[in-house]
Amino acid sequence: MIKKKRPKYLDLTEIKMPTPALVSILHRASGIALYLVGVPLGLYFFQMSLASEQQYAQFAAIAGHWFVKLMLLGLLWAFLHHFCAGIRYLTLDMHMGEELQQARSTSFAVLVVSLALTLVLGVQLW
Ligand code: HEM
Repeated sequence: MIKKKRPKYLDLTEIKMPTPALVSILHRASGIALYLVGVPLGLYFFQMSLASEQQYAQFAAIAGHWFVKLMLLGLLWAFLHHFCAGIRYLTLDMHMGEELQQARSTSFAVLVVSLALTLVLGVQLW
């Protein structure tokens, strides 16, 4: 069998990533971040906040630091993105919104809604 030599174009800075692909990558990354960092940290902070008065004060001091707050903001976005994208995937599993144009607009909506919710909740929690 003769293999055709096809030209390759792999300039990653030039290749445009479709929005559904970006949402898919972020959904996987946010799921892993929630599993590895969000859940253990959330449980640790929860346990600390309930253990004793001193531990609660320690937890409040840690959680009040700007860097920790920034990290928690990142985890909040990870959860909200994962949640919104998760709902999109569940609707896709029910064969809703499968057309190309719908897939593009729903993935764009996931990015916008999760960022907007992060902003609104982040401002209240800061
Ligand atoms: C702390 C909570 C959560 C953690 C740690 C988590 C973690 C994960 C991980 C690691 C994956 C696999 C990602 C991949 O391999 O592509 C996943 C997939 C998924 N998650 Fe979550 N998740 C959480 C919450 C949620 C919530 C609240 C929803 C509902 C909206 C959700 C919906 C989904 C769906 C639908 C998939 C499958 C996506 C697909 O078809 O590829 N998850 N999750």
